[in-house]
Amino acid sequence: MTLGRPKVLITEEAIRARISELARKISGDYAHAEELLLVGILKGSFVFLADLSRRLAVPATVDFMALQTYGRESVPGEEVRLLMDTRSDISGKHVLVVEDIVDTGKTLRYLLPLLASRGPASLRTCAMLRKPARISGEVHIDYVGFDVPDVWVVGYGLDRADRYRALPYIGSVSP
Ligand code: IMP
Ligand code: MG
Repeated sequence: MTLGRPKVLITEEAIRARISELARKISGDYAHAEELLLVGILKGSFVFLADLSRRLAVPATVDFMALQTYGRESVPGEEVRLLMDTRSDISGKHVLVVEDIVDTGKTLRYLLPLLASRGPASLRTCAMLRKPARISGEVHIDYVGFDVPDVWVVGYGLDRADRYRALPYIGSVSP
């Protein structure tokens, strides 16, 4: 099977510039925190987390969670499943959840109450991308890289059927 080349939506240069801005903002907001715990949501956030974390001016530790989001046929209340939890105890820590993309918001609506119940000192969210046309219901994102249209985006950690994650730019592919 041959797959088409994704159409460039956000260039490497634009990503780099935006991450520097985000890192500056986050570093300022957490300037008085002793340490920040970055919780990356696997797999999609690994590239963004790597780049963002290296530009922060505040000391940061890194942990990961893996979640599976189900499609339309899922049982209500069972749309998201926790596949892997953090290794560290997040209680008393300043936690910043790092996501690749907020689509419907289902993942964060499941994740945030779960993390909040563990007593972090603070809990915020940072998403590289957001699809405003798709978000349903309440979901608060503190830091957003870019808003994207309602198309399937790949690259820079994002996949379609596990492909394209290693592309250095963000592109769109036909569904
Ligand atoms: P949610 O709908 O906000 O819960 O998003 C669920 C997850 O679906 C995201 O964290 C991504 O991993 C994935 N996802 C949603 N839209 C896209 C896309 O356009 N490209 C790649 N992955 C996506
Ligand atoms: Mg994801």
